[in-house]
Amino acid sequence: MSRVIDGEKLNSDEFEVSLRPKKIIEYIGQDDVKENIEVFIKAARMRDESLDHVLLYGPPGLGKTTLAHIIANEMESDIKTASGPAIEKSGDLAAILSNLEPGDVLFIDEIHRMPRVIEEILYSAMEDFTLDIIVGVEGSSRTLKIDLPPFTLVGATTRAGDLSAPLRDRFGIVSKLNYYTEEELVLIVKRTCRVLEIEIVDEAALEIAKRSRKTPRVANRLCKRVRDFALVLGNSKIDMDITLKSLGKLKVDSHGLDQVDIEYLESLIHKFNGGPVGVETIATSIGEEVTTIEDVVEPYLLQEGYIKRTQRGRQATEKAYNHLGIDQNLSLF
Ligand SMILES: Nc1ncnc2c1ncn2[C@@H]1O[C@H](COP(=O)(O)OP(=O)(O)O)[C@@H](O)[C@H]1O
Ligand SMILES: [Mg+2]
Repeated sequence: MSRVIDGEKLNSDEFEVSLRPKKIIEYIGQDDVKENIEVFIKAARMRDESLDHVLLYGPPGLGKTTLAHIIANEMESDIKTASGPAIEKSGDLAAILSNLEPGDVLFIDEIHRMPRVIEEILYSAMEDFTLDIIVGVEGSSRTLKIDLPPFTLVGATTRAGDLSAPLRDRFGIVSKLNYYTEEELVLIVKRTCRVLEIEIVDEAALEIAKRSRKTPRVANRLCKRVRDFALVLGNSKIDMDITLKSLGKLKVDSHGLDQVDIEYLESLIHKFNGGPVGVETIATSIGEEVTTIEDVVEPYLLQEGYIKRTQRGRQATEKAYNHLGIDQNLSLF
């Protein structure tokens, strides 16, 4: 199901490219990550070396791809992009690696979804800038060592835990992106409206920020939708009235939860007595994929304290009961 507040990228997010900040100073929030990366970039440039490999992890929509492009930009390097699931054969990765130019940034998105056997090719590429290729038929095969130019691998993943230890250990810089504060999201909303050339009042920017799941991608998407309502139903300006009206129509509630979140919580509470219950069971009960639930829905519900993860499964918290207006004691019977 396509959700307006889904942190995952949708086809309608093509406008992201134009909304993406290009310089590190335009990248809002993530101060610790930014500061560190800035230092490492400066040091690498002073030494005239390529930047150490960088692993960026965190929930979808928090700015991993954006930061990868900014890193390349700040290093004045070219960026080549690939995605874990699209690399199906060893040859695919070998081709990508042997096409690198000195100093290039190679961005591999969803790097945790690369098959293990292929992943192993990266080890020597990352460590010694060499590519080991096995040539010949079984029995008379030998390994060919090819030198690669120095490059920087930037990997992005929503699940750092799914990376094998040997791969994770080869990243010199490992940064976790966190959910954004309301103030940061207000800045992002205002910046987006500037780029989209639509006026927005402060109060409306705050309201959109509050309902954005602490996620820039969601903030941008809401801006775009509210802008549509403003153009068609309003006076081409995003004010509070049109904002509340649009968010209501988009069924994004005052805490940024949408229908899928509500369905998840209601199912957990009504069908499973608040849990604990396994994620597969919940996923089936609301007709969603387990990976969607785990990667997109739950991180925010966990972060905001609507659910807890226990050994025996997911459990609804008091906050979830309160949010849905259900008496926790009554529902036990
Ligand atoms: N720190 C930030 N400052 C401003 N805009 C941001 C920031 N992080 C993300 N965005 C916006 O959010 C959108 C989604 O970011 P993206 O880098 O694609 O997320 P991810 O790769 O983590 O899923 C981008 O188009 C970008 O415009
Ligand atoms: Mg991305």
